[in-house]
Order: sequence, then structure tokens, then C-alpha cells
Amino acid sequence: MARDGAAYACQSCGAIQTRWSGQCPACGAWNSLVEEMGARPPGALKLTKPTRKQHLAFEGLDETTPAPPRIATGVDEWDRVCGGGVVPGSAILVGGDPGVGKSTLLLQVAASAARRGARCAYISGEEAVEQVRARAQRMGLADAQVKLAAETSLRAILDGLKAEPFDLVVIDSIQTMWSDAHEAGPGSVTQVRAACQELVRLAKKRGLAVILVGHVTKEGAIAGPRVVEHMVDAVFSFEGERGYPFRILRGAKNRFGATDEIGVFEMGDQGLAEVKNPSALFLNTSGERAAGAAVFAGIEGSRPVLVEIQALVAPSAYGTPRRAVVGWDGGRLAMVLAVLESRCGLSLGDRDVYLNVAGGLRISEPAADLAAAAALASSALDQALPQDCVVFGEISLSGDVRSVSRMDGRLKEAAKLGFRQALGPTGAEPPSGMKLMGAGRLADAIRRIGDGDWD
Ligand code: TYD
Ligand code: MG
Repeated sequence: MARDGAAYACQSCGAIQTRWSGQCPACGAWNSLVEEMGARPPGALKLTKPTRKQHLAFEGLDETTPAPPRIATGVDEWDRVCGGGVVPGSAILVGGDPGVGKSTLLLQVAASAARRGARCAYISGEEAVEQVRARAQRMGLADAQVKLAAETSLRAILDGLKAEPFDLVVIDSIQTMWSDAHEAGPGSVTQVRAACQELVRLAKKRGLAVILVGHVTKEGAIAGPRVVEHMVDAVFSFEGERGYPFRILRGAKNRFGATDEIGVFEMGDQGLAEVKNPSALFLNTSGERAAGAAVFAGIEGSRPVLVEIQALVAPSAYGTPRRAVVGWDGGRLAMVLAVLESRCGLSLGDRDVYLNVAGGLRISEPAADLAAAAALASSALDQALPQDCVVFGEISLSGDVRSVSRMDGRLKEAAKLGFRQALGPTGAEPPSGMKLMGAGRLADAIRRIGDGDWD
């Protein structure tokens, strides 16, 4: 049993327990319960009898609400993921691995917004003011009127933000903030939750947009920002594969916009550069296309994105063949392999299979099925696809190739980048100058790849 006033908070899901146990009863995580002072929830809420009737005003769904105003920061990739700019009075949580570039991105967003007249502050709990300033100067942002502070005390931050009017404030990071009203250590669930609650309240009250940085760590002492996701209006994740300069900002939750948008950036010496045409980035345009590669015409958010899918089918040295996937779902790979085997007679059961999405992009669309199947068949049959061919289409378990959303947009983007043929569902209508190799069944597509039957 915990000492008086103390309880055990799960560092993974934030549930509070009065007893310690090896496994969190709420989320099932192991070794995640940590004793925290002041974590115990207050006793059951006592409802007192109301002295007078309270009035609840109902409104209809058909009434009009003006669209929320937006602060366009001028970093277009960021603004698009927000749904057209940051909404005043909202709170945004930006999560990502340490070192992925969150501080760099948000310094650039704040500087760009400040140049357009927004009153911006950047409060760092991790770096000294000199460090942030030096980085801003190196990135050519020194002229932007961003007010910097290095502070971790929540009380000092709240007082500071109340004393001066701001439009946009970046808090880097939520895990370093601590409130003296709670005894738990900085970075604990209790502290992270308290800091977030106070900052969100201030944002709503003052019409101030607050951007919170949260580190997502593997199991460890620091509470994951998961526990505050429900408190904020939007949750974005900033992702990047190690070894690639590309960074992708992805919306996971957004009360003011769509969540399937992505923003693409490239990390360089001068910070993050916006990538307006991601297709060019994820394609290997130089040289011949080797056997095992297929260009997938995908859609990310509102934009078409072409990306190369690479497969390698190799003889297996072990009894159990290997299956490795990077950037795609392992379950879908298993499904595509099963359909290739049972509907097309292409047996890969005793061979190692590797599948990789180029450039560090992660694809979740079912429309990539046919491209993955084409890459696998191309490698297995040692037949390269033509250089100027894109592939898309969903595969059903029966071996049919199904239509997917926004086929026009996919084909137009491919035509714009010089592709002249497309392997996809019958019924898609390619723009002029492009030819569709319609495949009603997966077996048709695989036969075409095997025979090298192209224009
Ligand atoms: P940072 O924004 O500090 O990451 P985070 O806040 O997510 O922990 O960025 C860290 C990495 O970015 C660091 O390894 C260096 C690299 N970087 C550049 O390559 N170029 C730059 O101009 C900047 C500012 C950082
Ligand atoms: Mg940082």
C-alpha cells in the first residue's frame, strides 16, 4: 500500500492504482507503475442539491457557426496539416522521437508566424536561451520577433503568458515542465498532465494558440505524451527514418481539420526545408528500374504522392523463410503473398521476402496492394517493370483488382511526372497521352509482368 497521499501511476496509460503490481491492470503494460505523490484521484464527487434550477441552452445542428479564424504561419506544410493554419485558443501536441527535429520545426513555425505579424513566444525547458538563439541565427531566423525564454516552472510560465499578450506560444517540451502544486517529479504522469491542463486552460481563456512538444520514448522514466492526447485539440507526429533527411508531419487527431494530411520536410544545414512536390523525393528517377521495383501512385491526405516500392525475393537459407517489411503493413504483405500463391500460382512460401518503401515513407493505403504484388512478382520472375509505368489498385482475397479512391488524381500526378502507362483496375480513365493496362484480376497483371507485355 502506498504512503498517505501517494499512489501508483502507470507511465504508459496514466491510470492511477492504489497498489503496486508488476502489470498495469488498465493497459497491460509491464513494470510501468511508479509511485507518485499526489497522484491519487480525489474521492468520489459529492453531488449537492442545487439551490436553484440551472438552465441548459440547446442549439440546433442547422444553425450556422462562422469558421474559426486561423493564424497562417507561412510554413505551408505545417499550415496544411493544421487544416489551414493554427486556430487561436487551440492546443496542439507535436510528438516525436528525440532528435527528429521538433524543436527545429517549431522554431521555424514561430519565426515565420512572427514575420507575418503574430506575437510569438518560444519557451524552452531543455535548452538555454543562447542555444536556441544560436540555432535561430544559423537558420537565418535572427530577424524574426520571437520572444525566447528558458523556463521549466509552470507557475512562472503561466504568469509570464498572462502578463503579455501573445498569439502563439511554443512549449518545448511538456515533459520538462513542473508545477510546485504537485509533489511528483518532472516528467511524471501527474506533472505532465497538470502542466498540459493548465496550459490548455490558459489557451482557451486567452485565445492563445499553444503548441506543446512531447517526446515519445520507449519504456522509461518519462511519461509518454499519450496521457494528454485527449486534452488537446490536435495531435501531430513528426516522423523520420534514421539515415534519411526526410521528415513527415502527420495528423493523428485534429478537431479543426482532416487527419490524413501530411507535411513533408527535408532536414538540411539551414533547418527544415519544405518539400512542395514529395513525389520527386520518393522516386528513384535516375537509371533503369531494376527487377523488383514498382512505382506506386498513392494519395497522402489531399495530395497524390508517387513512391517506389522495392521487393526482393531470395532463396531461403533457413527452414523458416524470412519476411521483412519496412514502411508497409506486415499483415497485408502476408495477405498479398497468399493471394499470389493461391490465385496466381506464384509460390513464394519457401523463399525469403523483403519489402521496402523507398525514402522512409510509411504507406497505409490498401491501394498499394497491387504495387506491392507487382514488385514481388517482378523480383520473383526477374522481369523489370517499364520505367514509365505506375501501379495502383486494391487486391481482394478472391484475386480481383478493385477500384480505389481518387484514381484521376493518381493518374494525373503520374502523367505530370512523365509516366506513360499505368497498371491498375479496369475502369480508371487515364489522361490523354497515358495508357491504362487494365487488370480485372491479379493473375492478369502478373501474367503481363511475366510476359513483359508493355507498350
Ligand atoms: P531538434 O530539433 O533538436 O530535435 P528534437 O527537438 O526533436 O529533439 O533537431 C535535432 C537534429 O536535427 C540534430 O541531430 C541536428 C539536426 N539539425 C540539422 O541537421 N540541421 C539543422 O539546421 C538543425 C537546427 C538541426
Ligand atoms: Mg528539442
